[in-house]
Amino acid sequence: MSAFAVFGNPIEHSKSAEIYALFANEIGIKKEYDLKLVSKNNFENLLYNFFKLDGLGANITTPFKEHAYFLCQKLTERAKTARSVNTIKKLNNKILLGDNTDGIGFISDLKRLNWINNNNHITAMTHHDNKSMKINILLIGAGGASKGILLALLTTVVECYIHIVNRTFHKAQTLVSYCHEIGYKNVSCMPLCELADNTNKYSLIVNATTSSMINTIPKIPPTIITPLTKCYDLFYQKQDTSFITWCKKHGSIHCSDGLGMLVEQAAHAFLLWHNLLPSVNPVLNHLRSTLYV
Ligand code: ATR
Repeated sequence: MSAFAVFGNPIEHSKSAEIYALFANEIGIKKEYDLKLVSKNNFENLLYNFFKLDGLGANITTPFKEHAYFLCQKLTERAKTARSVNTIKKLNNKILLGDNTDGIGFISDLKRLNWINNNNHITAMTHHDNKSMKINILLIGAGGASKGILLALLTTVVECYIHIVNRTFHKAQTLVSYCHEIGYKNVSCMPLCELADNTNKYSLIVNATTSSMINTIPKIPPTIITPLTKCYDLFYQKQDTSFITWCKKHGSIHCSDGLGMLVEQAAHAFLLWHNLLPSVNPVLNHLRSTLYV
């Protein structure tokens, strides 16, 4: 049995084992890391068995992050806020600690890209941003991934206003209500189809929909982009994603896919388990050069 593993479904394309091995090699740790394909029915049993045996830490991926939240006896503050767990650590007293490193992974990647400065401001103001105006951020999508991104932005980026758009409007409304409930009022939403009538320009646009997975883009108007708009797609692949291709076509110069976030969230899981933060860039470069689709 391995000491570390990722649980999810599907799991065969997961890069977690490869990333863990590269981090462990840098730090000089020798531990096995397994991929665990689990189902809704056996996830709980297999997870608990793993920790009863040799398991020390687990990554949790789609679609079990919300389920994992209810299986941990202790939670970090950021897991509590996200109500979702992507990393578990077995503490010395055998208690399972649930954490969520997606948000810090996303923010760390924006910092790596220099899109957020050390004072947690979005860098390179657009002509719309001046000292008296807040930075506009557009978040497209209102699923599990969007929620993590939204909370990370709200708890980190200063002086910003976040608009959420989603194809299914009520999901965006639920997200906004939750943010208002926990004290963040600088967020609002509109149906995706109304974005065309919107005259806002955005400093940062994040595509947190799964549309790039099927090579499509959400229905968004090109008018929301300026040359200074930073465009981030949570999805990644070897060539530009459909969303990034579209953003570049409409004048965006600063674009990134989500591979950096994947490595950053894994680095923070590694930190939780081993109390050491590994280097992200060598792993990111390695993964980028070995992506095949
Ligand atoms: P994840 O856990 O990755 O966030 P999810 O919870 O299934 O996945 O959420 C997928 C998101 O992508 C949703 O916001 C979904 O919109 P709906 O809520 O309307 O379903 C969005 N999405 C997926 N395909 C899309 C498309 N072709 N156009 C626009 N939005 C899309």
